[in-house]
Amino acid sequence: MRIVTGTDSGRKLGPVSVPRAFDAHARSYDRLVNANPGYHDHLRMSARRMGLSRGAGLRLLDLGCGTGASTAALLDAVPGAEVVAVDASAEMLAHARRKNWPPGVRFVHSRLEDLATAGVTGPFDGILAAYLVRNLADRDAGLRQIYALLRPGAPLAVHEYSVRDSLRSRLVWTSVAWGVIIPMGRLRTGSADLYRYLWRSVLAFDGVKAFAERMTAAGFTDVRTQTMTGWQTHIVHTFLGRRPAEPGGNEPADVAVPEGLDLSEIDTPPEGTPAAR
Ligand SMILES: C[S@@+](CC[C@H](N)C(=O)[O-])C[C@H]1O[C@@H](n2cnc3c(N)ncnc32)[C@H](O)[C@@H]1O
Repeated sequence: MRIVTGTDSGRKLGPVSVPRAFDAHARSYDRLVNANPGYHDHLRMSARRMGLSRGAGLRLLDLGCGTGASTAALLDAVPGAEVVAVDASAEMLAHARRKNWPPGVRFVHSRLEDLATAGVTGPFDGILAAYLVRNLADRDAGLRQIYALLRPGAPLAVHEYSVRDSLRSRLVWTSVAWGVIIPMGRLRTGSADLYRYLWRSVLAFDGVKAFAERMTAAGFTDVRTQTMTGWQTHIVHTFLGRRPAEPGGNEPADVAVPEGLDLSEIDTPPEGTPAAR
C-alpha cells in the first residue's frame, strides 16, 4: 500500500486513487470533520430521513463508512440494528474499528464494486451512502448495485454534496473549500491533494435534479431530496429513494413513512429556507 504523506504530490486524484488517499488522511480525518460544524448532525438527519422506525431485527448497510461517522449516525437513528459497514480504505476502517461499537456492527474492507467477492450480500433493510457516490467511477452501475442489495420496499439515503444547480451554492462551496477546508487539510496533514480533489469533485458532481433523475433511472421510486442546515444549506443533501415493493407485497412496517411526515414537504426548500428536521 502506498501511503501519501508530507507534501502535495501534484497528482490528480480519481475514483481508483481516492481510497488510497483516504488511507493517508485517516489519522486526521476525525479531527477535521469534528471541526466542521454540523457534520455529525447532518449525517444523523440523513439517517433519520430514511424513516426506519425500529432497529432490532433490521439489517443495514453503511457504504463508504470511513472512520465510522456515518455508522454512528445510522445507529443513532435505529439503535439495535445490525450494521455492515464497508470501506475501500484499510486505514479509515482501522480507525473505525478502534471505536466502541455495540454487537451487531461489522466492518468489511471492500470497494462497493467488489462486495460480492468480499462476501457481502443483500438483502438489506436500508442503505446509507454518505460522501461515497461522488467518488464512484460509474455512478449508474453503483446505483444499480445498491438497488440490488436492497430488500423490496427498503430505503436508500445518499448523503452528498451537490452544488451544480445553483451559482450561489457553487460560490459558497468554493469559498469554504479554499478559505477553510484546503488550508486546514494542508496544515493538519501536510498535503492538500485530497481536499483539492474534494473541491473539484463536488463542482463536477451532478446537480440535485440530475442526481434524482439518475436514481430514478436506476429503478428507485419515491425519489426526493432534502437539504441541510448551516453553511451546508443547498450544498449538502439527502437524496432519498426506495426499491419498489414487490407487486402485491406490503411495504414493510419498519420502513413506512413516519406518522406526521408529509412527503410533499421534503423537496429541497427554496434558497434560504431552513430544512425541516
Ligand atoms: C468522505 S469519506 C466518508 C466517510 C463516512 N461515510 C463519513 O460520512 O464520514 C468517503 C469514504 O468512501 C470510501 N470510498 C471511496 N470509494 C469507494 C468505493 N468505490 N467503495 C467503497 N468505499 C469507497 C473512501 O475510502 C472514504 O473512506
